[in-house]
Amino acid sequence: MKDQQPPILIVGIVGSLRQQSYTRMAVTIALRGAAEKGARVQLVDLRHYALPFCDGSGNEADEFPDVARLRAEVAAAQGIILGTPDYHGSFSGVLKNALDLMGFDEFGGKVMGLVGVAGGALGVINALNDLRKVGRSLHAWVTPQQAAVPQAWRHFDDDGALTDPDYEKRLLEVGREVAHFASLLASKETRAFLEMWENAMPNPGAEGR
Ligand SMILES: Cc1cc2nc3c(=O)[nH]c(=O)nc-3n(C[C@H](O)[C@H](O)[C@H](O)COP(=O)(O)O)c2cc1C
Repeated sequence: MKDQQPPILIVGIVGSLRQQSYTRMAVTIALRGAAEKGARVQLVDLRHYALPFCDGSGNEADEFPDVARLRAEVAAAQGIILGTPDYHGSFSGVLKNALDLMGFDEFGGKVMGLVGVAGGALGVINALNDLRKVGRSLHAWVTPQQAAVPQAWRHFDDDGALTDPDYEKRLLEVGREVAHFASLLASKETRAFLEMWENAMPNPGAEGR
């Protein structure tokens, strides 16, 4: 019988501070998809964190305990879902600052999924593409699927439910995919494979030539 692994943790970071944020609604649905796959989930709502601007020192947590809280919560997760609104054709400054307060310790080698909302009809695609580049710089494995809800004001009701099942399906799918690949990466078999890979001879077949 295979060893039972403890459930993985997926956190969803909300990149909008607005009270009735559609980004929060979108991230909440994506986390529901991750929970369906057996993951533990946690909403990291930046609205409830007193964060300073990143000053590049790395010492921001000395004066702002919420920086340490944010770092610890994200570091504890095996997978991360980033949610952003479209702000002037890219992702929000609030999210960028939160990401800048963290780094490889929190994101390196982890699975990352992207969701976004926009007020306009063109959607939030450029913002998600920008986030994809940032994810790469953080050495995260950004999943190929992403979910965008354009004209979010049209598609969410006051309780955070989506009136269009297609958007809901895509958001759930991002959460499922993050949980799926995060648990694959965390599995003992994958760990053993990665160890063998790392210890393999650098150029098999070239010996003796
Ligand atoms: C500073 C700012 C810039 C925005 N720029 C865009 C934009 O370029 N394109 C767009 O479709 N919506 C834009 N919007 C609208 C937001 O994407 C929309 O209101 C979204 O619902 C905000 O996310 P939230 O509900 O999670 O707060 C902008 C909103 C703000 C406040």
